[in-house]
Amino acid sequence: MSFVGPKEVIEEGDTVVLYLTPAMMHTIEAVRQIRNKKNEMIEYVFQTSFGALKVGELIGERYGARVQLTKGWAHVLQPNPELWTQTLPHRTQILYTPDISMILYQLEVRPGSIVVESGTGSGSLSHYFLRAIRPSGHLHTFDFHEERCVKAREEFTAHGLGDSVTVRQRDVCEQGFGPELDGKADAVFLDLPAPQLAIPHAAKAIRDEVTGDIGDYSRRFSRVSPWLSAKRLDYGDPRGEGLAASVVYLVKKANPSIDYLSQSIPSDSEFHVLIEGTGGNRGQCGRICSFSPCIEQSMRVCEALAEHGFIEVQNLEVLQIEDIVRTRNVPVMELEFLKTKKTSEDKDAKTPRESKKYITSSAPNTMAGHTGYLTIAELPPLFAR
Ligand SMILES: C[S@@+](CC[C@H](N)C(=O)[O-])C[C@H]1O[C@@H](n2cnc3c(N)ncnc32)[C@H](O)[C@@H]1O
Repeated sequence: MSFVGPKEVIEEGDTVVLYLTPAMMHTIEAVRQIRNKKNEMIEYVFQTSFGALKVGELIGERYGARVQLTKGWAHVLQPNPELWTQTLPHRTQILYTPDISMILYQLEVRPGSIVVESGTGSGSLSHYFLRAIRPSGHLHTFDFHEERCVKAREEFTAHGLGDSVTVRQRDVCEQGFGPELDGKADAVFLDLPAPQLAIPHAAKAIRDEVTGDIGDYSRRFSRVSPWLSAKRLDYGDPRGEGLAASVVYLVKKANPSIDYLSQSIPSDSEFHVLIEGTGGNRGQCGRICSFSPCIEQSMRVCEALAEHGFIEVQNLEVLQIEDIVRTRNVPVMELEFLKTKKTSEDKDAKTPRESKKYITSSAPNTMAGHTGYLTIAELPPLFAR
């Protein structure tokens, strides 16, 4: 699978992963010639720890093929976001796959989603967003650093993703995401030194209306009071009516003794009901996630989120545990003696202990440490904020 779809044969201009060992990979562009420091076009020879490769010879090779280097060999692979994260040119600190998997899951991005991201940085996370939202979705990514924007744009275009992403150079804390994105985003992601300053702008960018219907069954708890104290719910509006009906139905199921339609809902009511949208849509407006390297930053984000109407604020830390899998000799317990009474002879007799070989899995004594906190929240629709 390349960035845009599977491919059989390497074509000129393709981005190719040269895989030497699990810890030694490079991404290269399959071109015959490159420009040297004197601005002359010369044959493209790529140097690796296992010797040199004439890159032009890759053109026409099948993806997955083993290619000869002067002192060894390598495999040529199709790029994907995971391999790109491991090989991309670092212009900033980047996010890695364990955190990214949780970000995609929590933001519920899917084909068709409109995602707003800042900062673009080295574009590591952007590639995963693009895989998740293409072909119908769009990524709007912002960075205030000019060169990082230029490089990211070049890479997205080279990877065939240019149509699905817009890179803008802007200080999002000062200037926000722009009026053209007001009420458009399904998800906002922040990886910034002062993300709390971008939260009011994120609240503006997130869509105002619920997309899809609220279903009548769900797997997830949601606090209903912000929705219901929602006498603010506009019962006249067809969309509001459907929504109100579903919420009331669910609340009644949760607490049948209260007449929620009487308009006398105590303002401090807090009921927990399950809400799920049909077709995978939970009837929310939009989600936000902010990556913070330290807890103080994450606390500032939580405060700003609460201040700007976000609900269900959660803080997560992704810690990766590697299972150690090995074969072990495990002693077999002899339990036959439990069935019969022990005689004095049995007491003296020592039965040899049998052992069997098992493949076992255990957690390591030490663990890869902290990367950062993911602060996640949801913004209810405009009428229920
Ligand atoms: C840690 S990097 C983001 C890395 C990115 N998530 C990735 O995986 O490659 C943070 C980026 O935010 C940008 N940045 C910092 N403050 C900003 C602001 N106020 N507005 C826009 N971009 C900002 C920086 O220039 C930097 O490129």
